[in-house]
Amino acid sequence: MKGILLAGGTGSRLHPLTKVTNKHLLPVGREPMIHHPLKKLLALGIQDILVVTGLEHMGEVVNLLGSGRAFGCRITYRVQDEAGGIAQALGLAEGFVGADPMLVLLGDNIFQSSLHAAQHRFLESGAEALVLVKDVPDPARYGVAEVRDGVVTGIEEKPAHPRSSFAVTGIYFYSPGVFHIIRTLKPSGRGELEITDVNNEYIRRGTLQSAVLDGWWTDAGTFESLALANQLISGVTA
Ligand code: DAU
Repeated sequence: MKGILLAGGTGSRLHPLTKVTNKHLLPVGREPMIHHPLKKLLALGIQDILVVTGLEHMGEVVNLLGSGRAFGCRITYRVQDEAGGIAQALGLAEGFVGADPMLVLLGDNIFQSSLHAAQHRFLESGAEALVLVKDVPDPARYGVAEVRDGVVTGIEEKPAHPRSSFAVTGIYFYSPGVFHIIRTLKPSGRGELEITDVNNEYIRRGTLQSAVLDGWWTDAGTFESLALANQLISGVTA
């Protein structure tokens, strides 16, 4: 299995903290944010990892992570020329992934639990895609899963009136067929290629699996959630 860490985007919700650096280099606990999802990949034995980030801060990201040798893995890098969305960033991974299954992690997702069980389920089931969902108090901030009898029947990106309290986390297992879907996407209202559109295509085909993520989870893309991530990682709130 290949690992993909998406660390592009503008980090605009964290200005001015992100004016001169990349969001994923900000501290969460005693380490840069991106170390946390990287460690989740390493814990699964994933050794080939692609990091996607924007041109502006690619140098700093490479300075931090290097070849991966210090982490016992091999890290490859790709530049996302503009923040055209999560699905656009993932599309850059096609040549790197080849015919392998992949685990995609958003670089600002900080969580407690291991992904062993989800990885096992994805590989054993032969599913095309598996997403992790989490019951949250503020679903309107996220992609929200509509769930019927334990099955995800639709996902809405940042809905004004969420149909459930289940956020789709930035933890996605895909088969390499995902790149065919990405090629068919059109930019959303906010001008991005949306990962939610990718997942809705799998729902349409009936091939999206989901699992509930155990333990705590947060993104770290706003001042409030960055502060929460720091508390959780330090065990203050956990
Ligand atoms: O955190 C989970 C949520 O992440 C999901 O529930 C949503 O469905 C999904 O769209 C996403 O929502 P956000 O609005 O929080 O995404 P954001 O723009 O903050 O980007 C999250 C990460 O994705 C960011 O840390 C790096 C990566 N990214 C994002 C964009 C827009 C890229 O690598 N390139 C990009 O162009």
